[in-house]
Amino acid sequence: MNLSRLIESGHFPKVYDPSRRIPEDIFDELLKFMYSIPTSVNAQSTHYLVASTPEARSRIADHIGEGFEFNVPKVRNASHVIVLATRETLSNEYLDELHAKELADGKFPNQALADQWKATVRMWIDLHRYDVKDLQHWMEKQTYLALGMSLMAAEELGINASPLEGFNSRTLDAELGLREKGFTVTVLLVLGYRDESDSYVKTPKSRLPMDRHFSFLK
Ligand SMILES: Cc1cc2nc3c(=O)[nH]c(=O)nc-3n(C[C@H](O)[C@H](O)[C@H](O)COP(=O)(O)O)c2cc1C
Repeated sequence: MNLSRLIESGHFPKVYDPSRRIPEDIFDELLKFMYSIPTSVNAQSTHYLVASTPEARSRIADHIGEGFEFNVPKVRNASHVIVLATRETLSNEYLDELHAKELADGKFPNQALADQWKATVRMWIDLHRYDVKDLQHWMEKQTYLALGMSLMAAEELGINASPLEGFNSRTLDAELGLREKGFTVTVLLVLGYRDESDSYVKTPKSRLPMDRHFSFLK
């Protein structure tokens, strides 16, 4: 990965080349990486819906919602789109399923540590569920971490990627049947190759001066 190139001109593409597809082995590697992305207390609260055919991408493009038409060509012309959806809540049954899998995978050196971890996870989730009352928001933060890591992984694999927040979650959730499964769309990840006509790439990045965003503690 060339970080200095990203710093200089790493705009997210605005126009994708409809003739280019991500090779399957490279896309598989990206999915494997995404599968490995961590979540706080290993809550695994994100579901990824992969649209790799024109038909699947059309389902997203056709239901992106009024006012978000500017994102339609990106979805149609990209090679792949991944919908990052987040759970509405975390049931105790799901937490038990996660714990059983951790046990089966040999995550704990002994039963005492397994029990301790189980109690810590329950305490942490209940804190967000009952005290702070931000469980869904907290899970969406996990999804955004996955988004950021996926964007960097795509760069590493030579794929162009754009995050899209511009969509109507009501129409997209309905089309993808997400709410009945206990999920809702958080953000879209568009993947493919920038089209040569994308003149935005030539414009400089605009940020406030660095000292507005960074303070160095003494
Ligand atoms: C989480 C996130 C969501 C975004 N959603 C959209 C979007 O829906 N459509 C779009 O054209 N650009 C989208 N952008 C691009 C931003 O508008 C863009 O990154 C920002 O204006 C800074 O420009 P630069 O990255 O080219 O420097 C998104 C960026 C981020 C980080």
